[in-house]
Amino acid sequence: ILNEYQHYMMKEIFEQPKAIEETLLGRLTPHGVNLPELESIWDEESVKRLRKIYIVASGTSYHSGLLGKKVIEQFLGIPVEATFSSEFTYNHQPSNEPSLVIVLSQSGETADTLSALRQAKQSGCPVIAITNTAGSSIARKADSTIYTKAGPELAVASTKAYTSQIVALILLSIWLAKKGDGPGTSHIRSLVDSLECLPGDVESTLIMTQEAIDQFAQITYDQDHLFLIGRGLDYVLALEGALKLQEVAYIHADAYAAGEMKHGTMALITPGVPVIALATQESVLDKLISNIKEVKARGAFVVGISTIGDDLIGEVVDQVLFIPSTHPLLMPILAAIPLQLLAYYSGTVRGHDVDRPRNLAKSLTVE
Ligand code: M6R
Repeated sequence: ILNEYQHYMMKEIFEQPKAIEETLLGRLTPHGVNLPELESIWDEESVKRLRKIYIVASGTSYHSGLLGKKVIEQFLGIPVEATFSSEFTYNHQPSNEPSLVIVLSQSGETADTLSALRQAKQSGCPVIAITNTAGSSIARKADSTIYTKAGPELAVASTKAYTSQIVALILLSIWLAKKGDGPGTSHIRSLVDSLECLPGDVESTLIMTQEAIDQFAQITYDQDHLFLIGRGLDYVLALEGALKLQEVAYIHADAYAAGEMKHGTMALITPGVPVIALATQESVLDKLISNIKEVKARGAFVVGISTIGDDLIGEVVDQVLFIPSTHPLLMPILAAIPLQLLAYYSGTVRGHDVDRPRNLAKSLTVE
């Protein structure tokens, strides 16, 4: 089953172009998105009535939920709260306003997320699930389910399920915006065009970054700490990059909103400490570059991840990795690839079982 790969994690990282292609299959139309699984429950009126959306998930699925929050808020123009399942169940205050709960779970069996789903239904909220597992408990209990089509994910660390989940969330955002006549509707065309090219862009990213990340992992493997910084969507992706390094490489990796470093964390930056600067969001690039200069001034070894054609970043970092450029909302999917590869190579060079990291399980069926 592994074919030429040594580990499932690597195989699944390389399956991402296919997983995304399958998740998009039959769902893109020239002007929007086709999600027949939602049509029987949601009409234009019920979407327009919505005043609040909750996105509820655990771990890596929660990180894709944070990205989904930003996309839905931009397109639909209503507040979205992303919450850990384990927090939602015991802290959710039911509101009288029409709300929707979106639950995300690769396995469809995570106990924390199942409890949150039950809590949502008890408080009268309709639930849409996004899962990779047909017939799973979460799929059966939700009012409607959008399936990601990533295929089975066997490595404990989620890779292809994560990027496919983001794709499904973006499809759902477009669908909701179209039904609800959201403020972002006019921008949908360019996003749909970029989604069509996404599998190819992911493929190119794999080719462009694999070797350089392998080399970087060989230099940094003995570091105890590593920081990831970014702004906006790059910050949200940094959270996922840090989680991957923690679970697979057992490196103490932390993600920071780049502008927050000077409010405390800068004290941890000492000469040689590796910092990965995610620089894919053009609208905040100037500010990010100032933050990179701040950590460089304290001696950090900075690797920038940026888009082809960005001349500015190369002048301020020690090493730059270029990835293809796409719609800004899709950049976190491309930038996730080198971070997954870094976790993989760091884990293997440190001698860990990357497919079955210590103390972790693929599906957590107890709260
Ligand atoms: O199956 P789920 O998406 O509900 O799982 C949630 C988390 O347990 C899971 O994403 C976990 O964080 C992964 N091991 C991360 O790679």
